[in-house]
Amino acid sequence: MSSHAHPLWIIEALSMRLASPSTATLAQRLYQALRGWIQNGELGAGSALPSSRQLARELKLGRNTVLSAIERLTAEGFLETRPGAGVFVAEWRPSGRTSISVASAPPSEAELSLSARGERILDFSAGLSDRYTAFAPGVPALDQFPRERWQRLLRRHQQQAPLEWHDYQHQGGVPALREALCDYLRLSRSVRCRPEQILITQGAQQGFELAARLLADVGDAVWLEEPGYGGAQSCFVSAGLDTVPVPVDAEGMNLEALPTSAPSPRLIYVTPSHQYPSGVTMSLKRRVALLETAQRHRAWILEDDYDSEFRYASAPIASLQGLVDNGPVIYVGTFSKVLYPGLRLGYLVLPEALIEPFKRANARLHREGQYVVQSALATFIDEGHFARHVARMRERYRQRQACLREALAPAVERGLELSEGQAGMHLVASLASHEFESALVARAEAAGVLLSPLSRYYLEPPGRPGLVLGYAGATEAEIASAGSWLAEQWLGLAEDV
Ligand SMILES: Cc1ncc(COP(=O)(O)O)c(C=O)c1O
Repeated sequence: MSSHAHPLWIIEALSMRLASPSTATLAQRLYQALRGWIQNGELGAGSALPSSRQLARELKLGRNTVLSAIERLTAEGFLETRPGAGVFVAEWRPSGRTSISVASAPPSEAELSLSARGERILDFSAGLSDRYTAFAPGVPALDQFPRERWQRLLRRHQQQAPLEWHDYQHQGGVPALREALCDYLRLSRSVRCRPEQILITQGAQQGFELAARLLADVGDAVWLEEPGYGGAQSCFVSAGLDTVPVPVDAEGMNLEALPTSAPSPRLIYVTPSHQYPSGVTMSLKRRVALLETAQRHRAWILEDDYDSEFRYASAPIASLQGLVDNGPVIYVGTFSKVLYPGLRLGYLVLPEALIEPFKRANARLHREGQYVVQSALATFIDEGHFARHVARMRERYRQRQACLREALAPAVERGLELSEGQAGMHLVASLASHEFESALVARAEAAGVLLSPLSRYYLEPPGRPGLVLGYAGATEAEIASAGSWLAEQWLGLAEDV
């Protein structure tokens, strides 16, 4: 008997393995079986394998099938070929070990240790829901999007895609889209720009990320609206910035309410056209003061203009960016509200000095892509479908808001306060106390209704109690039914208090 006799059970065990049903190829199954036995120690280091000829003969396999499995295990370091002697299990574990000392079970929730930043980001996302419900804030009317037209456009642009779109890109986005956007922004938002200033991103969120990482260092201060948008809050926290909340009142972010000891900002994040979530519009006086303050601190303003197309009582408010030439403003836009959030397309309008750094950093950090989608979107805008869709949705959302107001009317008559709702996709209901807010949210949870408590939009507790009630993404019937439910609950609780 050879000194390299293989363990006798191998052939029998392999033939049993190969007899059981599986969708994998024979070579894959042979590989998996041998690798499993090697990893769990049943085939220890130095064990000999039957020759490939013997394996092929006894298992009734092609020799190439056997060789393919053996070559793969050899390439991965589990087997080694000793010339003239045969194939053996390699000494693949660190010396002296009989097993891999890495736990094979995933860590439990209690053992999982996230970074402090990670923990805070998870706190921000506590209200996220994957359920599509009547009050989900910020969700547009997905059912109203002209999907067939859009899919036709996508197909057309896919067929016409030039070869270079399959390569890495560093242009800042498809030129046709940047041109179409530039025309739109100049006309509709009074933004001062040239197409070269536009950088297409995968949504506003990526724009915030780029600005946070390129313009501020860990520990630098960012001033943001309080209450404010959780997406921006979590982005700044994840970049390690010192988040300094600035109170919002009826005129928007109120810099005068900041203590003089507040650290000087590198970034100031605002939603001046339609403050999120309160819904107020920043007054002209405050806009001018904000520009002057930013200049004094040599800070950059991030103007998030996420839903200003949906203004019901007047024409959309002009952007802050367009107020002065060469202001320290980065304008952030998104297609998530006007089209749909799954599209993942947004853009930055950059001051001259930031164009090249942002374009290069974006190509390095996030990579550019989706050129087919971008080019289809340029046509969607150029052919007038975008403007038509926005106009239709403005009317639709006006109706949906009216529907929510009607459903809530019994509570409003008894004192429930709602925001003015001159714009946007949600209303804010003020509540008398945090207990009231918690009680309503608990009832909603039990009834399977999603309610977003206003206090969760504050960086510093306790915040003002209330509810952020999205109305754009649900049908009138759904809004009417959820609204009546809410009015009833509010009335019941108001009586108990
Ligand atoms: C204030 C605000 N900004 C921006 C966005 C859009 O972000 P994105 O383009 O990353 O989807 C939202 C969406 O909820 C928002 O509420």
